[in-house]
Amino acid sequence: MPRVYVETYGCQMNVADTELILGLLGRDGYVPAEQPEGADVILVNTCAVRDHAERRVIGRVGELKRYKRPGDVLGVVGCMAQRLGTTLLESTPHVDLVVGPDGYRGLPELIAAARAGERTADVAFKGWEHYEDVDPARPGSGPSAFVTVQRGCDYRCTFCVVPMTRGPERSRKLEGVLREVEGLAANGVTEVTLLGQTVNSYHDGRFDFADLLRAVGGVAGVRRVRFTSPHPNDFSDRVIGAMAEVPAVCEHVHLPVQSGSSRVLRRMLRRYTREQYLDCVARLRRAVPGIALTTDIIVGFPGETEADFAETESLVREVGFDDAYTFKYSPRDGTAALKIRDHVPDGVAGERLERLIVTVRDVARRRNIRLVGSTHEVLVEKPARRGELLQTRTRTNKVVLLQGPAEWIGSYRMVRFTGTTGATFTATPVLAARELAVVG
Ligand code: 5AD
Repeated sequence: MPRVYVETYGCQMNVADTELILGLLGRDGYVPAEQPEGADVILVNTCAVRDHAERRVIGRVGELKRYKRPGDVLGVVGCMAQRLGTTLLESTPHVDLVVGPDGYRGLPELIAAARAGERTADVAFKGWEHYEDVDPARPGSGPSAFVTVQRGCDYRCTFCVVPMTRGPERSRKLEGVLREVEGLAANGVTEVTLLGQTVNSYHDGRFDFADLLRAVGGVAGVRRVRFTSPHPNDFSDRVIGAMAEVPAVCEHVHLPVQSGSSRVLRRMLRRYTREQYLDCVARLRRAVPGIALTTDIIVGFPGETEADFAETESLVREVGFDDAYTFKYSPRDGTAALKIRDHVPDGVAGERLERLIVTVRDVARRRNIRLVGSTHEVLVEKPARRGELLQTRTRTNKVVLLQGPAEWIGSYRMVRFTGTTGATFTATPVLAARELAVVG
């Protein structure tokens, strides 16, 4: 049986797309390979959001070339494949295949053609494509699963290449999502993460994201529902109401802000001001007490002044984010921000990034220290990287290290936080009230 190795870069949707690709090729008899060595087909599933991500992939594709035996296929798929298309075939002679996120259905034929010596690219958008009939292969996925509910993006944030790599926004039918989640639950999955570029703008023509949360949260066996990433403007009262009312929906939102300056936000075409973002945060906190908030922030966007940057730092303190991913602005071909003058020198952007990271860590550490001594439900995920410990996660998405037997993996436990590094926690198991009553 032919073996396929897929290496995945970028966001969670790429992880889910890789599972889709493995499922699709599985129907044609391909089995997944853990290593590139000996694989008949090597695919790299790529990200195009920043130049750095693309350069890493180019380097990696150069390395993977050495695993290619005569007749083997090396392909680049995903967002960078979509963005570069045939240019990538021209610039990298060892690449046989270039396929964008809407073209995976054609992979079996394209791979067969590549094995016969043809070099092809498929980067056509298919606004209808949901891969609804494809069963993603989730090898050893355990209790957690990603479920893509929406593809593409209709926002036009001026820094962002995604609308150009993933095409127009479209939502799967609620019934299809529900069927998939029911199937997962029947196989022991208890935590699902719904995925979409602006996932809370989900609308299948009949049902919105609030309906979806209620439906998925109502599936027997599903204990935790997460979603990523929402856009602040799509948190309608209906959606926030569903988050508050559906017990399975976790108390954590990753809410990309990008900047704390309304002037920069306008140039980014984020379609909200600092005040509107803060209002969204306040509504979420009112509806879901104890909700954890994380975010994405870009520094050095064209025209960002020291005063704008100070507003970003003050917003981080004002919101009190539990964590943040911070990025230096990376100019992307085809995006509107390229036309904005007032380039921020790289040294200035780099220095702002360093300061921001210090602020983010400080804010997170203060919040986390206050949580030491509190009790949480955790899902035991896997062995921790160091020692005999287990890696677990709270509903608020805090990573917690716990001592316990490997049999606990996949189960839910009550724990008390005993300490924090500032970012992650250590904890000891505590008996739930019910168990205490029995012991007492
Ligand atoms: N430069 C830097 N960061 C970017 N992001 C998206 N596009 C760019 C860019 N051109 C960041 C945003 C987004 C995250 C996924 O990546 O913060 O939320």
